[in-house]
Amino acid sequence: MCGIAGYLGTRSASPILLDCLKQLEYRGYDSAGVGLQLADGIQITRSVDRLSGLEAKLGRLNGQGSAARVGIGHTRWATHGRPSELNAHPQSSLDGKVVVVHNGIFENFLELRAELSAYGLSPISQTDTECFPLLVSMLMREGMDFGQAFAAAVRRMRGNYSVLCLHAEHPDRMLLARSGPTLGVGFGVGEYFVASDAAPLLPHTREVAFLEDGDVAELNLDGLTVLDRNAAVVERASVHIDWELGAVELNGYRHFMHKEIFEQPEALARTLEAHLDGDVVALGLSELEGSFRDLEHIAIVACGTSWHAGLVGKFLIEQLARVPVDVDYASEFRYRSPIVSNRTLALAITQSGETADTIAALRDAKQCGARTLAICNVVGAQIARLAEATLFTRAGPEIGVASTKAFTTELALLALLALHIGRVRGTMTAELGAELVRGLRALPAQIEHVHGLEDAIEQLAGARQATTNALYLGRGSLYPIALEGALKLKEISYIHAEGYPAGELEHGPMALIDPALQVVALMPRDEHRERTLSNLKQAAARGAKIVAFVSEGERGLDGVAEAILELPLTHPSLAPILYAVPLQLFAYHVARLRGCDVDRPRNLAKSVTVE
Ligand code: G6P
Repeated sequence: MCGIAGYLGTRSASPILLDCLKQLEYRGYDSAGVGLQLADGIQITRSVDRLSGLEAKLGRLNGQGSAARVGIGHTRWATHGRPSELNAHPQSSLDGKVVVVHNGIFENFLELRAELSAYGLSPISQTDTECFPLLVSMLMREGMDFGQAFAAAVRRMRGNYSVLCLHAEHPDRMLLARSGPTLGVGFGVGEYFVASDAAPLLPHTREVAFLEDGDVAELNLDGLTVLDRNAAVVERASVHIDWELGAVELNGYRHFMHKEIFEQPEALARTLEAHLDGDVVALGLSELEGSFRDLEHIAIVACGTSWHAGLVGKFLIEQLARVPVDVDYASEFRYRSPIVSNRTLALAITQSGETADTIAALRDAKQCGARTLAICNVVGAQIARLAEATLFTRAGPEIGVASTKAFTTELALLALLALHIGRVRGTMTAELGAELVRGLRALPAQIEHVHGLEDAIEQLAGARQATTNALYLGRGSLYPIALEGALKLKEISYIHAEGYPAGELEHGPMALIDPALQVVALMPRDEHRERTLSNLKQAAARGAKIVAFVSEGERGLDGVAEAILELPLTHPSLAPILYAVPLQLFAYHVARLRGCDVDRPRNLAKSVTVE
C-alpha cells in the first residue's frame, strides 16, 4: 500500500528520499514519485515503473534536483484512478505551488471535486488526492496563509489519511497531518526524516516521534511543532527504535522471505525474552489485568496470516484459560452485528498494525464496550493507539509480503497470553504452565533443527513445482497451520491450495484426489495422531500423493506417504509454531523454482490500508 517519505535538512534530499522509498517498496506499489523544493519552484518527477525507473528519470533530469534540501516522495498503490504518471503522487495545485503526497483515502473527494470545479479549479487527475492541494490553493486565494489553509483543508477531509505538503513559496517548511495511517518523524542532527513506518528511518536515526490521529504539524529547521485535534500545541515524544539496521537488508539472502524464515529462532527468542521473567509470564498488561478474571468471551479479529494465528490462539486460550473465543475475519466481524459486552476482550492481531479492516473491527468492538488488546509487530502503528494495551512481537521488520516470522512470534505471544489468563483465572495447573514455558524456550533451537531440513524440503519442492492443486490437512490446532501452509503456497507460487481439517476429508475434498493433487499432511504425535493416520490411509488407498510432516520416530505413515519429514517433538499445544516453518520453506522453494517474485507476489500488498 502507499508509502510516504519526506526529508528536510542540509543534505541533498533526492537520494535520501529514493533510499527511503526503496525501504517502503515492500508495502506494494504501482507508481512512484518525488517532489523536490528548488529555487525556482517544486520539481515533480513521477514514474509508473519500479523505483529504478524513477531513479533513472531523476538522473536524466541532470541531477538538477540534487540542489534540493527539502523534498517529499511516495509509492502509490492505486485506489482512485488507474496507475499512471498523471495519477501518481506528488499531486499539485494547478499552479504547481502546493505539492502533496498522501496515504489513505479522502472519502468526500467527489463533493470536493465538484466544489473546486465550480470555483474554477478542476482536477486533472482521477485521484482523490488532488483535491487536497487544490483546496489549499483555493483557501490561500481566499486570504489564508499556508499554515492556515493546510489546517483548514485537513479539517475538511473525511476518511483515513496522512499527508505531507510543500509550498513553493515556503521552501523551508513541510506540513504534515495524520488521521489514520502511521506517520513517523525521525530526528537527525539538524535534519528531519518522515516516513510511513520506522524501518526506512533507521539508517539515519533511531529517534522517531509518531503523530497521533488528528495532529497537524510543521517541520522546519527549528524542529517539529505539533497541534492536536483541538489546535493545542502538544509534544509527541520520540521513541527509540531498537531494530537492527541489517534487519531491512538482504544480508546475502536471495529474498527477504528466505531471510525472515531463518530469522525465526532469534525473533522468537527475543519475543519470549521480552515477555518472560524466568518462569513468570510478564506481559505488562496493567490496564487490562482486572478484567481477566471476569471475562465472558474473547473476540479475535484479524486478516490473512494473522487470522490464522487467531485460530491457533482460540485453541490455546480455550484450553488454558477456559474462556470461549470467537475468531473473525475483521472484514466480516464489522458487518455481522457480533455480540460484544464489557466482559468481552476484543483482541486484534496484526503484524503491521495498519490493516484497515482490523483497525475498524477493533474500533467497533471498543464502541460496543469491549476491553481491547492488540498483538502487533510495528512500534508506532495505528492499532496501538486504539487498543487499551498492545503486546509487541519482537520479530523486527518483516519485508516479504508473505508473513513468516511475524506469524510465529504472534503464536508465541498468544501462547503467553493464554498462559497468563489461565494463571489469573486458575484454570490450569502450575505444572502445565511450567511445561509450556519450557516448551516455548526450546522452540528457537527446534526451529533451527527444522532449518537443517531445508535441502530435503527444497528437493520435495523441486519434484512438485509443477503441481496445480494442493490440499493441506491437519487436526486440532494444526488445522489452522494447514490453512496457513496453503495460504503461503498460493500467495507466492500461485498454485491453488486449500487447507482442511483432516476429519473433513470425506465430506468433499476426497473427491479431488487424483494424480494432479498434492496432499500435504501435518501429523505430530498428539491426541489426534490415530485419527489423522486413519484419514491419510483412506486418502492413500484412493491414490493420494502425500507429503507428511510428522514427529521424530513416527513410523505409521511408512508406505502411506511418498515423502515423510520428521520434526522435533514439542508440546502438542506448541506444535503449530514448529510445523509452520517447513511449510514456509516448502512454499518458498516451490515459488522460487517456478520463477515467482517471492517477496512481491502479484496483486498483493504487505499492508492493506483500505477496506
Ligand atoms: C496482507 C498481507 C498478509 C497479512 C495480512 C494481514 O494480506 O499480504 O501477509 O497476513 O495482510 O496483515 P496484518 O499486518 O494485519 O497482519
